[in-house]
Amino acid sequence: MTFKLAEQEWTSKVELYASLAVQLRSLLEGERDFIANAANFVSLLYHALPDLNWTGFYLNKDGELVLGPFQGKPACVRIAIGAGVCGKAAQQRRTILVDNVRDFPGHIACDSASNSEIVIPVIKDERLIGVLDLDSPSFGRFNDEDAVGLNELVEIFARSSEIGMT
Ligand code: SME
Repeated sequence: MTFKLAEQEWTSKVELYASLAVQLRSLLEGERDFIANAANFVSLLYHALPDLNWTGFYLNKDGELVLGPFQGKPACVRIAIGAGVCGKAAQQRRTILVDNVRDFPGHIACDSASNSEIVIPVIKDERLIGVLDLDSPSFGRFNDEDAVGLNELVEIFARSSEIGMT
């Protein structure tokens, strides 16, 4: 299979995420392997979304978040539930937007290039599967439109993937 990343022509984040939803469905079609789909999902995001320096998953394993498929520099492997932005989003099961990571108490700095961050919990059948984390070198890179768009993409990914395969 050859997948060609669409040329991004969009005038709003809403349009960009709508285009990504179409691409993600096509990318995951016919495949249910969780790790393979997670790896392709983060690659799509990393290459299609502007101004990112890190994008990846932390997966809930035995009550702890463990590094999963990602794009960017090597990162911290384990994060306790409740620790950092990722652990808080996992604990509270909600999307967390951070305009300036230095203002977030307990933020875990994996890449000093990161200045803002968004973390989306991945939940299926009420089970916390993990979180999706996106980092940017720009301050205030993410807003509510990113939160809505990324939550929709995470839904598509979770529906398309066999969670037992982590
Ligand atoms: N900053 C995150 C840690 C993960 S890295 O950004 C890849 C946090 O505070 O949870």
